[in-house]
Amino acid sequence: MTKNIKIAPSILSADFSILREELKALEIAGADWAHIDVMDGNFVPNITFGPPVIKSIRKHSNLFFDVHLMIEAPERYLDAFAHAGADMITIHVESTIHLHRVIQQVKSLGKKVGVSLNPATSVDCLKYIIDELDMVLIMSVNPGFGGQSFIETTIQKIKDVREMSSTVDIQIDGGITDKTILKCIEAGANIFVAGSYVFSGNYKERIESLKIIDKVVI
Ligand code: DX5
Ligand code: ZN
Repeated sequence: MTKNIKIAPSILSADFSILREELKALEIAGADWAHIDVMDGNFVPNITFGPPVIKSIRKHSNLFFDVHLMIEAPERYLDAFAHAGADMITIHVESTIHLHRVIQQVKSLGKKVGVSLNPATSVDCLKYIIDELDMVLIMSVNPGFGGQSFIETTIQKIKDVREMSSTVDIQIDGGITDKTILKCIEAGANIFVAGSYVFSGNYKERIESLKIIDKVVI
């Protein structure tokens, strides 16, 4: 059986001074999505970029924009990210009090919706909302920085979410390499963010080394 694996390079590891060229290079290299990490210096210690930057790069890329919001009270900015050109908006369970309402807000803006869990967050919080979601993002590192090591307890979490839903997309973010991806696929995940791994080598070779797994019979 082959699975529909998607690779979403994180532009957090790109050269910000030439983002437009970096996105073009990713597209040519075979990336399926562009993963866009938005950080507010509050929910996570780091600060990256917001809607104006996304709006500006949107004009220069055909890639699916997978926007990962690591910001407090994301409900304040959903309109702005939707209008800037996000295709998918993923919010953290830990970042809002009214998660159900925020999910409905994203859907009403005509965007795909994902919900993300920090490494210490139990999958139990998904029980009453999972049928509303396009994607569950399981963080395999603590959010905030690229280049961290994969946390092994992620594997059991993937299995737990896959047991809750056979259809929801399961995305893994953090520490993904050609070494860590296989066990995540075996556990039931199908969309992979890779930042430092893709950007620290030849983009095409790195993306192919992750996609080759798609051909593996599991
Ligand atoms: C971390 C971000 C990730 C990060 C992954 O907070 O959400 O998307 O870019 O980086 P790597 O692949 O280097 O662990
Ligand atoms: Zn991310």
